[in-house]
Amino acid sequence: MKEYIGQINGRTRTCGLVGNPVEHTMSPVIHNSLAAMFGQNFVYVPFHVRDGLQEAIEGAYALNILGMNVTVPYKSEVMQYLVRTDAKAEQIGAVNTLVRTEGGYVGYNTDMPGLYRAMEEDGICLCGGQVLILGAGGVARAVALLAAEKGAEKICILNRTLGKAQDIITELSEVLAETKENGTPELLALPLSEYEKLGGEEWIGIQATSVGMFPQNEDVIIKDAGFYQKLKAGYDLIFNPYETKFMKLVKAAGKPAYNGLKMLLYQGIIAYELWNGVAVTEEQAKEVFEAMKKEMKVQ
Ligand code: ATR
Repeated sequence: MKEYIGQINGRTRTCGLVGNPVEHTMSPVIHNSLAAMFGQNFVYVPFHVRDGLQEAIEGAYALNILGMNVTVPYKSEVMQYLVRTDAKAEQIGAVNTLVRTEGGYVGYNTDMPGLYRAMEEDGICLCGGQVLILGAGGVARAVALLAAEKGAEKICILNRTLGKAQDIITELSEVLAETKENGTPELLALPLSEYEKLGGEEWIGIQATSVGMFPQNEDVIIKDAGFYQKLKAGYDLIFNPYETKFMKLVKAAGKPAYNGLKMLLYQGIIAYELWNGVAVTEEQAKEVFEAMKKEMKVQ
């Protein structure tokens, strides 16, 4: 693969990441690798925005910046500064990709389609599946909406604070009542402490809390090895560490375990496709994934 920062000249188009902090982002590796593969005169840079998000977005637009990724803590706040938000992103309540149009940026959410593409590639099928979501924050809610949209048969949300899991389930049933004619999934909210009540062995477990994230590598949402027997596969949305304690416990139960790095890859690829009007091939995606692993020193 070519060196990913190409020659910068008067025609170079710029995209970037807005967040706080941004020092550890993997996105420049994704986008600059893709630009090199496509031979596009394109560069992607991090922008550390400590405050003044509105000025940052308006300034980026005035500077003719082609597109932006938006990360923590701005994914919801940014929506008020856009000319339009895509319906799915609106429903999720979070935007991670801005696309330049006449009059302003349009906001999209590529995180959930990114997760979906990653799961598909890993052979994990949400359609007709029993989906067990651990956590009930913004990410868990988005995953629950994705599972419902993709036709999961059962969706259970397991969370320390039961009320938050119940709120998501109530919202899901309202959304489903509006959009589905028949075949709505079975919905369930459970407190984390009552995981033993779950029937077993067919759940696709999706770990959507920050428990176990670097540097708390040894933390895990449920320690009991018996719980992991109830899973068919385990997906941790964390990618640092590369193998979380949750994944280790899933593997110890003899089930396949995946981290969130591929979701990160595909959210980036979908953003790149939106900005540049190209289609990234499977081969190219693999090459970018290798570059990401190299950056993480997990080759
Ligand atoms: P995000 O928007 O990124 O999803 P969040 O809204 O802060 O983040 O949600 C974090 C989730 O992780 C919550 O479901 C939280 O549980 P509570 O709803 O009970 O707060 C869960 N979480 C965080 N730390 C936890 C811990 N130590 N044990 C169990 N659950 C935890």
